[in-house]
Amino acid sequence: MTATMKAAVLVRPGQFEVQQVPRPEPGRGEVLVRISRVGICGTDMHIFNGHYAADSLPMIPGHEFTGTIAELGQDVQGLTPGSPVVVDMNIGCGTCYWCRRNEVLNCPDMQQMGITMDGAFAEYIAVPARLVIPAPDTVPTEVLALTEPLACVVRCARKANITFGQSVVVLGAGPIGNLHVQLLRTIGAAPIIVADLSEDRVNMALEAGADVGVTDPAELEDVVMRHTDGRGADVVIESVGLPALYRQATRLIRKGGHIAAFGLTGADEMLPVDILQTILQENSIKGSVAGMGQDMHDALTMLTHGRIRTERFTAATYPLDQIQDAFDSFADRPRDLKTQIALTH
Ligand SMILES: NC(=O)c1ccc[n+]([C@@H]2O[C@H](COP(=O)([O-])OP(=O)(O)OC[C@H]3O[C@@H](n4cnc5c(N)ncnc54)[C@H](O)[C@@H]3O)[C@@H](O)[C@H]2O)c1
Ligand SMILES: [Zn+2]
Ligand SMILES: [Zn+2]
Repeated sequence: MTATMKAAVLVRPGQFEVQQVPRPEPGRGEVLVRISRVGICGTDMHIFNGHYAADSLPMIPGHEFTGTIAELGQDVQGLTPGSPVVVDMNIGCGTCYWCRRNEVLNCPDMQQMGITMDGAFAEYIAVPARLVIPAPDTVPTEVLALTEPLACVVRCARKANITFGQSVVVLGAGPIGNLHVQLLRTIGAAPIIVADLSEDRVNMALEAGADVGVTDPAELEDVVMRHTDGRGADVVIESVGLPALYRQATRLIRKGGHIAAFGLTGADEMLPVDILQTILQENSIKGSVAGMGQDMHDALTMLTHGRIRTERFTAATYPLDQIQDAFDSFADRPRDLKTQIALTH
């Protein structure tokens, strides 16, 4: 008889059903992970609302997860059953041009756990062993489950070449904006200026290490100039996902400055960019999406060594049976920077 497990299946937009489903078997080169914690992220909300990955339904979402190794598939070496792990969710084909260049996120056949295939709102998941990263057993599971969102932010800082002494504006102080601010503080970027329409969110970003907070968009340009000797910031990170903010971002960077395109917009949105100014000032803009490989390792290392304050991210926790409630109430809990699902086996 096939073993079963409990899983939260998103049967249609807006509706989870907690079901008994077949427990996955680890194939050759795979491991079975016994899941302990899973974060809910903005992408999960988009999937829940039917705005993203609608073709994948019915599906088990969930990609920000940690657990322990339950079973090794054939030919897996170097991993130990029982040990805690986090998992890189991005599965490249392994043989295409981009995979060979370690640019898996551009692989035309990339699969993402919890987005294009079943994910982690379940008791178990089978994953390729090469994507499993052993974690220290001293770090609480609720902290390990933050590795993936932190990895996205790490990748953004890497792609934007942000380093110590650089002035950075973060547009958007949501959960991810808060992580941008914390990482920038750790890197030594200065000053860090954060903008959000919500005073609560700005205050949380100031607590997280921002030097200056702005809630009125009309004041932002003046504030940025005042704190950068009238030049503008070295880098602006757009972490909202509003095309209109790029117009403002081009006025907030210094000559030769950089815009990090990070917040996800709708499809087919175009950038309002002054081309001549971009050429003459040698400005740049670059996207970054998700976190993989080294980003995951670096995020895990920082969490392990307490570089990121996680309390506000780990307070709101629901059991798998109440996942519907966790998603339904998400928008009404803006002070919870993250909601997590805790699995009890
Ligand atoms: N590129 C990536 O790797 C990656 C990874 C994770 C998330 N994201 C995206 O990053 C963005 C931020 O994620 P999040 O979870 O913090 O989202 P969120 O929606 O929770 O937060 C966005 C914040 O922006 C604020 N905001 C709205 N309009 C604004 C404006 N005009 N000016 C300033 N602030 C404004 C909101 O008040 C909110 O606090 C989202 O678009 C998300 O999809 C991208
Ligand atoms: Zn996520
Ligand atoms: Zn590939």
